[in-house]
Amino acid sequence: MFRRDTKASARKIRGLITQLTSERTDAIAAGTAPDDLATKIMTTADPETGERFETEEMVDQVAIFFLAGHETSASALAWALYLMARYPEWQDKLAQEAKQLTHGDFGLVSKLRVSRDVFRETLRLYPPVPMMVRENTCPEQFRERDVKRGSQIVVSPWHLHRHERLWDNPDGFDPSRWATENGKQCQRDAFIPFSAGSRVCTGAGFAMVEGPLILSRILRDFRVKITDEKPPVPVAHLTVRSKDGIRLRVVRR
Ligand code: HEM
Repeated sequence: MFRRDTKASARKIRGLITQLTSERTDAIAAGTAPDDLATKIMTTADPETGERFETEEMVDQVAIFFLAGHETSASALAWALYLMARYPEWQDKLAQEAKQLTHGDFGLVSKLRVSRDVFRETLRLYPPVPMMVRENTCPEQFRERDVKRGSQIVVSPWHLHRHERLWDNPDGFDPSRWATENGKQCQRDAFIPFSAGSRVCTGAGFAMVEGPLILSRILRDFRVKITDEKPPVPVAHLTVRSKDGIRLRVVRR
């Protein structure tokens, strides 16, 4: 059951998306729609059935992107800023790096190595999607135990990312780990913030540009500091949120 104000917010968001989508449907019909991703998604036919998205289906797609693409990135950025407030020496490194990025020069994003490593370390310690649930379609064996067909299996990035038999200093914040042998090995075998396999996050590449870039831009201009309030307590909702929010002091650099 959802709270009444949650339902009202959901209705409002859906209303806005419906309005945008209907406008686009009309523009496509009139031949005036821009040649962008939304138009492509709405006009491309399924190669097998020849069907296209109805407006309502497109609204669902956009709503999923809104949740999958916004809520997750927002959670990661909030935890990244908290970690930067806790580790000011890394914050300074990041600010230093950010000064290299001149306005509008997206080519430089690949040079934001510190920002990327900090963002990656945030995804390790606070994976926005802390667990994924799957149902097995055939009998399986896990660690010599039989798992019946149709069982619910929880795959947990949260646990895997802090596994003490795999990671050096598993609970510590150390963005430089990604350059170490252990870090590289674990990145391949034990790091799944975007899931893996056929349902891997379709926005992973985008998120790894957007996250470090936004973090870099914020810390170029602002300093974040810990407040006297209690440290944030992570809780698993749909994404990893802090129980009572994350409170930081923000001052201009
Ligand atoms: C830090 C940011 C992000 C994280 C940690 C993240 C994580 C994930 C994870 C773990 C899944 C798999 C969920 C499951 O199967 O149970 C997923 C799926 C998905 N993500 Fe992301 N995501 C992020 C950003 C984005 C962005 C920016 C977009 C779009 C622009 C996006 C679009 C999607 C979509 C469409 C799916 C469903 C894919 C499918 O089932 O085929 N995500 N994401």
